[in-house]
Amino acid sequence: MPNILLVGNGAREHAMAEAIARSARHPRLFSFMKANNPGIASLSEKIRLGGYADLAAITGFAREQKIDFAVIGPEDPLNHGVVDALAQIGIPAVGPNQSLARLETSKAFTRHLLDKYNIPGNPRFQVFTSPEGMKDFLNALDAVVLKPDGLTGGKGVLVQGDHFATKDEALALCEQILKDSGSVIVEEKFDGEEFSLQCLCDGKTVAGTPLVQDHKRRFDGDQGPNTGGMGSYSLPDHSLPFLKPSDIEEGLDITRRVAAALLAETGNPYKGVMYGGFIATKNGARLLEYNARFGDPEAMNILPLLKTDFVDVCRHIIDGTLDRLEIAFDAKATVCRYVVPKGYGLPADHVDAAAKARIEVGDVGDARLYYSSVDKRDDGLYLSASRAVGIVGIADTLAAARRIAEAGVRAVKGPVAYRADIGTDALIQKRIDHMKKIRNE
Ligand code: GLY
Repeated sequence: MPNILLVGNGAREHAMAEAIARSARHPRLFSFMKANNPGIASLSEKIRLGGYADLAAITGFAREQKIDFAVIGPEDPLNHGVVDALAQIGIPAVGPNQSLARLETSKAFTRHLLDKYNIPGNPRFQVFTSPEGMKDFLNALDAVVLKPDGLTGGKGVLVQGDHFATKDEALALCEQILKDSGSVIVEEKFDGEEFSLQCLCDGKTVAGTPLVQDHKRRFDGDQGPNTGGMGSYSLPDHSLPFLKPSDIEEGLDITRRVAAALLAETGNPYKGVMYGGFIATKNGARLLEYNARFGDPEAMNILPLLKTDFVDVCRHIIDGTLDRLEIAFDAKATVCRYVVPKGYGLPADHVDAAAKARIEVGDVGDARLYYSSVDKRDDGLYLSASRAVGIVGIADTLAAARRIAEAGVRAVKGPVAYRADIGTDALIQKRIDHMKKIRNE
């Protein structure tokens, strides 16, 4: 009966809490959250509310509850060094220490790591800490992507053609990012289709999980601003129909080599999730970025399918024995749709209008419901400014999973919105056609 600490309060962590709660090891779950997620709270023996920078509060709670190991959901506490703080009091964790979490928290660190260890997958890139040479490099690339070197909640990346049009605009934006954050990464823009490859890693062994495609844009048809992710789907064969087997192999190979490089570079094994945001291009898989945690929403696609006991998975990650565990997933399709406040992703005044409104969650039928940013008060459930509820359909076919998710999202009433095209045949066909075109097939 292990005592497990979960840190995090989103829908991703709700899915993690559910995976822990259904373990045959009868764990007792204790959750540290920055806001009270009613789904996680209902699965927890005890909760504690607090900020993720408050390491003393997290370690204090862990000590009090005699925690055997911790599982860290979001990037914020990893960035603050929660794994190091827990290690100091003898509590191991699923999640990298602060230095290893640079895989996500410093895009420049990861780009340089791949270069230093001759790992394929990087675009042409340069990291600038002054404007010197910036204009020449921008002009040397066909189209560019600009990134600040830190956590941006998935919304800080600026892409030519989406967020700006010309190299002059790119230069002005680079200067602004430099001023705001001290450095800017300029990268070559890839043409292709994105896929999420979430791998489990114990420091030596890297195990892939079913592939998922996330949808960052706010509106149907991939229109509107980028968001934290509006929803995602996965297929029963655990692949995606626009990928070649070699794309997946390359993504796995890059991740295995990065895990080895992290060990060589820092002397510490990476224990946790290495979530590669890859893009399939005409020349194979390329790395957009790594995250040091499960994806949100992608965790909601894969964790409900996990047949292996999640507590065993965690134990083997911590013990460095993942090679001795068979990790299996149900051969089912999943469709996750996020229900968000109507103004989500739009300028703050739109968000404020919808936020703090009350919502009613009716019967979601066969769908799974994962709470995200909602505020549970005595008189009901209220929206915050962010994604509210993740609704997941799981079935033998994508069409059936989609129908379940569709019925589920309709049960959430209030000033809310969702993307109706996620997991539809038309959108997936668009991805397939795009890849055929760029591969000249
Ligand atoms: N799915 C995007 C993220 O988790 O960052």
